[in-house]
Amino acid sequence: MKQHFGVWIPGLILLLSFSATVHSEERTPFTESVVIFNTVCAKCHEAECSGRLSFDDAYETSRSHIIRHYGEASDKKWLQQELFVILNYMKERCAYYPMDAPLPARRVWSGEILQRMSTLLERNYFIPLGPFVPGQYRINLEMERDARVTVHLVSERFDMVVEDCMESSDKAIHIPVTIMEPGGYYFRMYPREPVRIERLSVVEGGMTGD
Ligand code: HEC
Repeated sequence: MKQHFGVWIPGLILLLSFSATVHSEERTPFTESVVIFNTVCAKCHEAECSGRLSFDDAYETSRSHIIRHYGEASDKKWLQQELFVILNYMKERCAYYPMDAPLPARRVWSGEILQRMSTLLERNYFIPLGPFVPGQYRINLEMERDARVTVHLVSERFDMVVEDCMESSDKAIHIPVTIMEPGGYYFRMYPREPVRIERLSVVEGGMTGD
């Protein structure tokens, strides 16, 4: 239960802060909304750390802007709201919105836990990989089928450690990673065509197997 407070309290404060203009139940954004923001909206809004919240009326005026960049939000007012909340969180905290995503013990992601951290249509993935100490690592992806993808590894302070276009062979992609700064890291993937990651694992050392 403990870990949920970190997610609930900031979300609740933000929702309350503009509940005068937006009428809805007060709850934290869905994981998918966080993934949409951190893949689609992040292209322009990542690391936007102005330290203050947008005005309440910015929500109404930005609705068409949000829909232009994410058409699927057009008939989903709750999604537009959640994306607005997530942007405000980033501006104020200078951090990614916390995700209710427990870290798997061996840093192996698969099944439902993994698919929850993707957008349903585009299969953009945004996955918190947890804390790292400096060293050599490898991120291994097992894909549903061979595909060409863009992969990012970003630190919690928005430093891009990996930014690469890669093609799988035998449905596998291996991404060597050198971590210099300790801290939390996030994996992001944009596929050329929608494709599922069946399994993601992080292993220590650049050369060792899975
Ligand atoms: C191609 C770049 C780009 C993309 C993609 C983009 N935006 Fe924006 N957005 C801007 C720019 C530029 C502004 C105006 C300057 C500012 O406030 O940052 C803006 C303004 C906003 C504002 C108004 C902020 C305020 O304080 O008035 C909101 C809210 C917003 N965007 C949300 C989103 C969301 C949610 C998404 C994803 C669905 C998104 N944007 C995608 C470029 C982008």
